[in-house]
Amino acid sequence: MAKILLRPDFLFVGGENWETIKNGELLIEDGTVIYAGPRRQYTGGEIDKIIEGKNRLVMPGLVNAHTHAAMTLFRGYADDMPLMDWLRNKIWPAESRLTSEDIYWGTMLAISEMIRGGITCFADMYFNMDAVAQACMDSGIRASLAQGLIGLDNVKGTAGLKESKKLVSNWHGSGEGRITIMLGPHAPYTCPPQYLQKVMETAAELNLPLHIHLAETRDEVRECLKKYNKRPVELMESIGLFKHRVLSAHCVHLSKEEIEILASSKVSVAHNPGSNLKLGSGIAPLADLLAGGALVSLGTDGAASNNNLDMLEELRLAALLAKGSQEDPTLLPAREALKMATLNGAKALFLADGTGEIKEGSPADLIMLDLEKPHLYPRHDLCAHLVYAAVASDVEMVMVKGTILMERRELLTIDEEKILYEANVRAARLTR
Ligand code: NI
Repeated sequence: MAKILLRPDFLFVGGENWETIKNGELLIEDGTVIYAGPRRQYTGGEIDKIIEGKNRLVMPGLVNAHTHAAMTLFRGYADDMPLMDWLRNKIWPAESRLTSEDIYWGTMLAISEMIRGGITCFADMYFNMDAVAQACMDSGIRASLAQGLIGLDNVKGTAGLKESKKLVSNWHGSGEGRITIMLGPHAPYTCPPQYLQKVMETAAELNLPLHIHLAETRDEVRECLKKYNKRPVELMESIGLFKHRVLSAHCVHLSKEEIEILASSKVSVAHNPGSNLKLGSGIAPLADLLAGGALVSLGTDGAASNNNLDMLEELRLAALLAKGSQEDPTLLPAREALKMATLNGAKALFLADGTGEIKEGSPADLIMLDLEKPHLYPRHDLCAHLVYAAVASDVEMVMVKGTILMERRELLTIDEEKILYEANVRAARLTR
């Protein structure tokens, strides 16, 4: 494979350290970062491709830690409705008509949008996940995939676990490790404790992490208390869920004790500020979670409840909400927010291969932004620009594992025109 040299004016290697490296250099070989640091006199032999980055910034790719990619097909179909009304009367009937091909094209639509916005990796929970995995293979993006499991009915619950096992044998580690599999028990209100026990047995058997929705709405907490006399996080702890590796989406309505449980059990939290706002679910206690030591990442949730898959927008929302809701502008500073959207995302997906930061030996998952824009001048602090001023269309180049997926804003692995056509035709059929 190719040897690629990047020479950006500004380089962020991410990780714990978001200091700006001026006149940066990156050397990538066989999809792996060999060098990242200040520019030097390169003497390492022949280079296949040199990317000059005048007025450009290179940083780790963004990790979308919670989404339902194929729901792009329902973007703008049903809005401004209460959650259960929205699900029961609009989303579920339309979803019941989805074919595997629909899910492939819906996921491709999502992936096009995500690459365009600098997302190199995402965690997905949906169904017909073979189609989602195929879309990830075809596009070159990195993903952690979970078949959404509903355990309200024994037959469906068992079938879901069987499909999950098949997903593991078909796809886990595919695309040179780009695709990983998780188990996806949808939520405590769709997966009763007896069923979650079965899910945990499978997780232990296959050594898989879990991806679940938790404490999203006040109603969920109320129902859980009524049924089990425990709040959702307490209930999950009591049945032993957190003995496993768990990625937990939302976590909006938490008691102080529950925040402690999440932090001490090392549960990954995926914060979805845009979706929580749009569905009127509330504002997650981000500052308390971080102060308590919880690992918090950032997600867009599905496009039917957001309505875009724009991580730069989520970054900004997360920072502004943390400050505004607590009347404290010092909360969630820009560098901490960026860490949430990159390294914490990779950790939240339990990727242990160096994904989420740019360092020697890590996979070359990175993005380059064009800074030659009025809204990115002057350049006092580029971290602040990334969180408070940058927009998705500033992302110019995207690379996953050393393969360039977008260059000069042109998608190289994806036929976007065909995707837009397919999405339109299929969405019309589904919502007829
Ligand atoms: Ni969700």
